[in-house]
Amino acid sequence: MIPQSDPKRSFDAAQEDIQRAIQRVFERGLFILGPEAEAFEAEFATFLDVRHAVGVSSGTDAVALALSAAGLKPGDEVITVSMTAVATAVAIEDAGGIPKFVDVDPATRCMDPRALAAAIGPRTAAVVPVHLHGFPTPMESIIAVARRYGLLIVEDCAQAHGAIYQGRRVGSFGHAAAFSFYPTKNLGAPGDAGAVVTDDPAIAQRVRRMRLYGWNDERNTVGPGSNRRIDELHAAVLRVLLPRLEAGNAERRSLAHQYRSRLHDLDLELPPHVDGAVYHQFAIAVEGRTALQAFMAARGVQTAVHYPVGAHQQKRFACGASALPVTERLSARLLSLPVQPEVARDHLPEICRVLAEGLRCNRS
Ligand SMILES: Cc1ncc(COP(=O)(O)O)c(C=O)c1O
Repeated sequence: MIPQSDPKRSFDAAQEDIQRAIQRVFERGLFILGPEAEAFEAEFATFLDVRHAVGVSSGTDAVALALSAAGLKPGDEVITVSMTAVATAVAIEDAGGIPKFVDVDPATRCMDPRALAAAIGPRTAAVVPVHLHGFPTPMESIIAVARRYGLLIVEDCAQAHGAIYQGRRVGSFGHAAAFSFYPTKNLGAPGDAGAVVTDDPAIAQRVRRMRLYGWNDERNTVGPGSNRRIDELHAAVLRVLLPRLEAGNAERRSLAHQYRSRLHDLDLELPPHVDGAVYHQFAIAVEGRTALQAFMAARGVQTAVHYPVGAHQQKRFACGASALPVTERLSARLLSLPVQPEVARDHLPEICRVLAEGLRCNRS
C-alpha cells in the first residue's frame, strides 16, 4: 500500500542525526524545558523572522495559549473558518472564546475576508485565520478588516510551516501565531508538540508563564497557567528537522506541480495555485469521493479526507451555526493524495494512473 502519509519515513531519512540528538538529551539528563527547547525556540523564531517562539505541548494548546496571552476574555467571540481541523475551534473554547464560523474562498480554500467582515458583531474580539493545507491566507485583507474593528489576530499555522505570503512567512502577520508539530506536519515531532510565535514580548512572557503553572522567575504562581510545556526530546528532534524543512517544502511544491501537469485534463478540481504554498496536503475535489477512495485503496493507493464535515456541522458546534456553502461543498468532495516527499516521490505516476482509472470507472 502506498500510504497517504507516513511520518516514520521522514524520521528514517534523518535517522543518524536524530539518534545523536536523542543521545545528547539522555547524556545531559534534562528532559523538560532545557537547552534543546531554548535553542529550538531561537532557531524557529529566526526561521520565521519573528522575535519570540515559545515551545508548548501541542498545536491545540498553542492556539489556546496564543489567544489567552493576546488578551482574549471569557465569552469573547472568535471568528474562524469551519474548513479546518476541529482542533482550531476546540482551542478557541479552551481559551474561553466562542467560535463563530465563516466560509472560505474557493480560490484559496482559506478564510474569505468578505465573510469575516460580514460576520463581525458587538462581541467579536478576535479572528483566527487558518492557512489550510499549506496555502497562505490573504492576510492583507484580513488585517485590514481586523484593524478596522480592533480585533486580535491569531494565525493558525499548524499546516503551513514555511508558507510565504507577500515575501514573509506566515506566523509573522498576526499578534501571535500557533504551530503544531504533530508527527505528520511538514515539520513534525515524534509525538505531540507545538509553538506560539509573536513579535510582542508581553505575549511571549504570558505564554511562558501559562505553559508552566503561571510561575514567575521565582517560581511563584502569579497568574493563570497549567502544564503545557514542550519536552527536550521533541525539541531536539525538531532541531534536526528544521534545517531540512525548506528542502521538504520545495519538493512538496515540485510534487504538486507534477500532479497538476498529469491531472489537469481529468474530471476533477485541482487545488488552488497559490504562490508560497507549502502543500501540507494536495487535495483534489471530486464527485463520488467515497467510491473513488475505495477504488484507489483496493489498488494500493491510500488517500485521506481533510475534513469530512466542517466544524460548524459537528455536534458540539452545530447549534445556531449557519450554512457555509463553499465549506460544505469542499467537505463533501476533497480527497487528499499522498504529497509527503518520502512517500510520493517514487509513486506519483502510479498514483495518477490509479486515480485516472478510478475516475473512469466512477463515470461508467
Ligand atoms: C489547522 C490545525 N489547527 C490545529 C491543530 C492542532 O494541532 P495538534 O494536533 O498539535 O494539537 C491541527 C492539527 O491537527 C491543525 O491541522
